[in-house]
Order: sequence, then structure tokens, then C-alpha cells
Amino acid sequence: MSVTAVSRPEPCILVIFGATGDLTQRKLYPALINLAAQGRLPEHFAVVAVGRREKTDALVREEAKRAAAAAGAAPAVIAEAEGLLKRLHYFQMDFDVEAAYPSLRSRLAGLDAEYNTQGNRIYFLAVAPQYFGSIADYLYRQGMTANQGAWQRVVVEKPFGRNLPSARQLNARLTQAFGERRVYRIDHYLGKEMLQNLMVIRFANTLFEPLWNGRFIEEVQISINETVGVGSRGGYYDGAGALRDMVQNHMLQLLTLTAMEPPVDLDADSIRDEKVKVLRSLRPLEAADLATSVIRGQYGPGIIDGKPVVGYREEERVDPNSNTETYVALKLHIDNFRWSGVPFYLRTGKRLPVRSSEIVIRFREQPGVLYFGKGYSELGPNLLVIKIQPEEGVFLQFNARQPGTQGTIVPVRMDYCQNCGTGLDSPEAYERLLADVMRGDSTLFTRWDEVEYAWEFVDQIAGYWEQAGTPVEIYPAGSWGPEGADRLLARNGHRWILPFQCLLTDRPGFEGIGAGPMVESGPFEDSKEPS
Ligand SMILES: NC(=O)c1ccc[n+]([C@@H]2O[C@H](COP(=O)([O-])OP(=O)(O)OC[C@H]3O[C@@H](n4cnc5c(N)ncnc54)[C@H](OP(=O)(O)O)[C@@H]3O)[C@@H](O)[C@H]2O)c1
Repeated sequence: MSVTAVSRPEPCILVIFGATGDLTQRKLYPALINLAAQGRLPEHFAVVAVGRREKTDALVREEAKRAAAAAGAAPAVIAEAEGLLKRLHYFQMDFDVEAAYPSLRSRLAGLDAEYNTQGNRIYFLAVAPQYFGSIADYLYRQGMTANQGAWQRVVVEKPFGRNLPSARQLNARLTQAFGERRVYRIDHYLGKEMLQNLMVIRFANTLFEPLWNGRFIEEVQISINETVGVGSRGGYYDGAGALRDMVQNHMLQLLTLTAMEPPVDLDADSIRDEKVKVLRSLRPLEAADLATSVIRGQYGPGIIDGKPVVGYREEERVDPNSNTETYVALKLHIDNFRWSGVPFYLRTGKRLPVRSSEIVIRFREQPGVLYFGKGYSELGPNLLVIKIQPEEGVFLQFNARQPGTQGTIVPVRMDYCQNCGTGLDSPEAYERLLADVMRGDSTLFTRWDEVEYAWEFVDQIAGYWEQAGTPVEIYPAGSWGPEGADRLLARNGHRWILPFQCLLTDRPGFEGIGAGPMVESGPFEDSKEPS
């Protein structure tokens, strides 16, 4: 295995606000411990976990170890991280009280002296979104963001606002304190291995890039399917819904990486410039599109993994009459040379039969002159599937003659799995993202203009739903979502393509859920899409 030497990041202190919360426990501690074990943390480094409960350093170190073990870290990895754990400190404060900040500032200055961290800071806001702005204000007013020969960066989680106006207000507060270049807006999908690989697959292969346009591509489907329900997030989710929680960020990020032009180089801004162009080219949705091209659903009771589950309205901290969507499917167009006439279908939902995130490219069919009506079976489409999770890899379906038959053409598949027993376990997204913030690389973080255009697109849908009082279509948990989503594609002679796991009948657990062809072979109806 080749190992690329990466220089260690500059000295700094990572301050985690919300250190007793779910994100810190499930993602940040495990990621830090893995980074420490791999020697990828700065040589001069400390972590300050901020929380309001009474705790000791020793207790927090134990919590971090337990969190890493729960996330699957081997005892040897945790042992390797002992040096980091000794530099993990707890600081008790109410982060919503400005008067508490001067003592945090003094504590950090003390740690600078102890660890030679040189005044560099990363403030990770693992807190509820309503605190992002006030924490930034307090840090700013208390002189904790001033760049006196050192750097200070802030990392914020999603959601970044609730709509464009609130995102603008939040952004003004963050940039007042830090400036755009030091604001790292996390979209953890961008930290996933296959998304980083997507650019390589597209731009480093003669096989794909020349075909990556409307002349050869019939349609693109982007899906993020979840089996989980809303879980303990009902309080937040009921005020947000799938459109704001998934489409505004993750889905549009997948879209931009799929559709963007090659950047001039691999600089963060060059890549993000191209992503922004895609968002700017999104065709605005007319009133008629808003009524027919965007489907909203909500899961009712049903069966997941053979067990009964309650419907969304029965979930904890959800309004029993809630009209919040847990599923969205939509059709959109990118009005540029490359994608003219190609529909992009996006769907995301909770309580669907399988967990999978993937991008499916369906190529246009070959003129059937050679094989149609000459004793041969019908041709299926060529499909390229970029598998993002849980499996990472690429899946290619093409046509071949079935050996030993006269005229049977069958779809055959090449399946590259990047994380199937190769020994090359992909790092968790947060490992990559934390390491990048430490190195000051913002490529995998969303720039403000991306956020802005994404909200603009999503706000038109949310505004229409609100004004029209669009009801949700209830779908049973464990089904593939509302029927409206099937009709949306059928209007163009298309249909949803099953996640790739569903056709691999040899995989335990997937036998009953649509095993069989990914799409039925045979010609689709002619597209009614204007070309
Ligand atoms: N969890 C995830 O998987 C996930 C995924 C994507 C995005 N996010 C985003 O990440 C952020 C954090 O989410 P989370 O799930 O970790 O939230 P959480 O579990 O509610 O944690 C919030 C933390 O903030 C602390 N806190 C609240 N008010 C405080 C105060 N006044 N002073 C000091 N500490 C205070 C809480 O402390 P107590 O424990 O004392 O209440 C807790 O540690 C949110 O913006 C969320 O949208 C989370």
C-alpha cells in the first residue's frame, strides 16, 4: 500500500461547544481518536470540551474513550490515542452567557502556554443552530476571534438557517466575527469518500467524461434513502422537514458534484466556483412545476426489518397533526449546454426499505437496428451507479449475449466495491473534515454563495407549499414512498431505479425487497422531455 506523506497541521486548540451532545459523542470524539492514532493531529495540540454540567477532565477522557469504542475503534487504536486524551480538558460554562467567555479566554491562553498552541483556535459549534450566531457574537465581542498573529476558525453544523433570510442573518454574524475564509460550514456528505472519488471518476477517465452530457445521458437519479425514522430528533425535524434537512444541503451538493464542469485546478475556490455555476443554472420552478414536479410524503405506520414501526405523527416530540414531509422527490433541470433536456430526479426519505445513497446515470439507448425484432431479446439500458453509502464504489450495467443462447441479451454488471474487505477502510467523514479544518483546507466545506443559491432554490418550493397548503402524501413505512413519486417519473417514461443492493440476491437480507432487474429490461417509452 502506498502512503502519501502528509505534513502535520499547525499548532492549535480545538474548542468544542456542546461537548456532552450527540454529535460530539458519536462523531467528533471517535474521529479525533482515530486521527490521533494515525498521527494526523498537530504536534502541538489540545482539545477543550465545553459543557454546562459539572465534570472533570478524567471523566471527559473516559467518555471520549467510550465513544470511540462504541463507534468501533479497536482497543489498540484507543491506546495509541493516549497522548491526545491527556490533552483533552473540560471547561464548564453556559455558552449562552457572555460573561462566561473571559474565563474561557484565560483558560485557553493558559493552555497555549502549556502546549505551545500559539493562539490558533478552531471553535467547533456542535450545538443547536439557534446558538450559532450568539456564540459567534460573544467570541467576537470578547476578542477571541481577533487575528493577532494567529488564526481562529469556526466550524458550524447544518442547518445553516431555515430559509434564505435567516441564513443571511446568521452569515452576517459569523462573517463579522471570522470573515468568510475562516467559516467552515459542514456538509458531512462532502467528507464521504465516494464524493471525493466522484471527481476522479468523472475527470480521470476517458471512459466517462466524454459521455457525461445530454447527448448520451437520458436521466440522472440521485437518492438518499434511509430506513430510520425521525428518532429523537422530532423536536427539530418537525419544524424543518426533508426539504430543508436533506435537499437544501446534501442532495444539492450531490447534484453539483455530478453536474459541474471540470474546475481549472483543484483549489477550493476553483471547485466551488464550478459548483455554484450549477446552482445558478437550476431552472426556476414555475407554479405548474411546483404543483406537479415536487412530491412531498410522510411515513405512516408500517414494517421495517420485519418489525412494526409507528407512523411519523406518533413519533416523540412530533405534532400528532403534523404536515411535515419526511420524503421529497423532485424533478429539476440544469439549463446549460451540458445538461439541456436531461431530467435530474432527486429523492430522499425516511423509513424506506433500504439504506442507500447513490447517483444513477442512465445512458441513452442504442438505436436498436442490429438487435431489435431479429430474434433477440430487448436491450436494457446502460447504467452507471456511484455508490456512496453504505457501500462505496461503482456499479456498471451493460448488455452482453447470454452464453449458449441464440438471441438472449442480458444485462451484466461490473461491481467495484471500495470498502468491501479490501483492508482499506474508508475514514469517517468527520475525520477528513476535522483534519481539513486543521490544515485550513475549505474544499469540502460549503461556501456562502453555495448556501445562498441552494436556499433560493429550496425557498421557492417551501414558499409554494406553505401558500398552497400542499398536504403530505402518506406512505407506509417500509415502502418506496408515495405513489406520486412514481407518477412524477412515469410522465417522462422513466421509473425509479432500485438501489443496487436490491438486485444482488446473494446478499443476505436483501432477498425479499425487489430482487431482480434494477430496471426491467426493454425499451422505455420515448421521453416526453423537450430535448
Ligand atoms: N447529532 C447528529 O448526528 C448531527 C448530525 C448533523 C448535524 N448535527 C448538528 O450538530 C449540532 C449539535 O447536534 P447534537 O445532536 O449534538 O445536539 P445535542 O445532542 O442537543 O447537543 C447540544 C449540546 O449543547 C449543550 N448545551 C446546550 N445549551 C448549552 C448552554 N447554554 N451552555 C453549554 N452547553 C449547552 C448541551 O449540553 P447538555 O448536555 O448539558 O444539555 C449538549 O452538549 C446541531 O446543530 C445539529 O443540527 C447533528
